[in-house]
Amino acid sequence: MGAFIAFKNVTKKFGALTVVDNLDLEIAKGEFVSLLGPSGSGKTTLLMMLAGFERPTSGEIFLDGKPITHLPPHRRQMGMVFQNYALFPHMTVAENVAFPLEMQRVPRAEIVRRVERALDMVRLGALKDRKPSQLSGGQQQRVALTRALVFEPDVILMDEPLGALDKQLREHMQLEIRDLHRRLGLTIVFVTHDQSEALTMSDRIAVFNAGKIEQIDTPQMVYDRPRTRFVAEFIGETNLVAGKVVDAGGERAVVRVGDAALSVCGNVQPGRDVSLSLRPERIRLGSTPAAANALPVTVADCIYHGDHMRLVLKSGSLELVARAERLAGDWPVGTEAVASFDPQDCTVLAS
Ligand SMILES: Nc1ncnc2c1ncn2[C@@H]1O[C@H](COP(=O)(O)OP(=O)(O)OP(=O)(O)O)[C@@H](O)[C@H]1O
Ligand SMILES: [Mg+2]
Repeated sequence: MGAFIAFKNVTKKFGALTVVDNLDLEIAKGEFVSLLGPSGSGKTTLLMMLAGFERPTSGEIFLDGKPITHLPPHRRQMGMVFQNYALFPHMTVAENVAFPLEMQRVPRAEIVRRVERALDMVRLGALKDRKPSQLSGGQQQRVALTRALVFEPDVILMDEPLGALDKQLREHMQLEIRDLHRRLGLTIVFVTHDQSEALTMSDRIAVFNAGKIEQIDTPQMVYDRPRTRFVAEFIGETNLVAGKVVDAGGERAVVRVGDAALSVCGNVQPGRDVSLSLRPERIRLGSTPAAANALPVTVADCIYHGDHMRLVLKSGSLELVARAERLAGDWPVGTEAVASFDPQDCTVLAS
């Protein structure tokens, strides 16, 4: 099956500034794709081009195989949810939700029926006569979501829709959006700053950096197999360790770090200077020498975090951060120990 949404060589410039840089992106029907990246990396601009509010400087955008690059927004069948809800304050909940249908000149009786059904779907039926000011932030966001869903769009675009909500409500809405996505088979493109939000909600994550996608993969691949230094550092916390490849074949390599020869994952050429990415929670600490992938370390710092401890470990000039679960014992400062990890938990970065 071909891609449902496709960007082909899309560039967007504002004056001399290239904001989206010769970008290719394919999204399947029914997929939930998050765009994750630092401020100014081009996420909103990409969404605006998909919705039709911005034109690419060059390149082409396709929906279901047809070029839509020059189609106006109202002919694209896409629902949009913005960070600041953008509800009409003088209209009731039901009137807000009805608005896009009225714009499309749907008959009155059908509007009433569809609005009711959409509000029930997000459990807002009881609040339909209230004004936005009489709703909580989460309820307002649900109304905005309902308004995007009511005309049964092919695609829902969301630009940091949960950014203004407190943590508890945000997590609740994350589950609700995920559930709607599954139940309705929606195609969702979801912009977020929040990496844990992207990891928990998406089928795939596109990591943006300066107008380019550095990696697009499942949450697990992006986290466990970052391809670049940028991705490794942007998502989660990681230790970057410099070393030299001494042996390599297939997806495995042996990398010399100081006196140690470490078995790691990744496709690289022998002789290259590389960086390794090793997540803090993948480091095991023991008091006896480990068989493989072991580094002698001294505990240089130990910080209490409630459910876990963060340990700073020194091995010669190398410094590693490790995360120790509470049950894994006490590691007071000054303790000499052995840090080790499994080869599949350490990735060679391409750049
Ligand atoms: N209409 C515009 N005119 C000029 N420059 C713009 C315009 N819109 C966006 N930009 C610039 O394009 C770059 C990318 O902006 P964009 O809004 O796509 O970033 P973003 O990834 O969504 O960032 P954030 O996470 O802060 O929302 C920024 O440098 C921004 O200043
Ligand atoms: Mg933005």
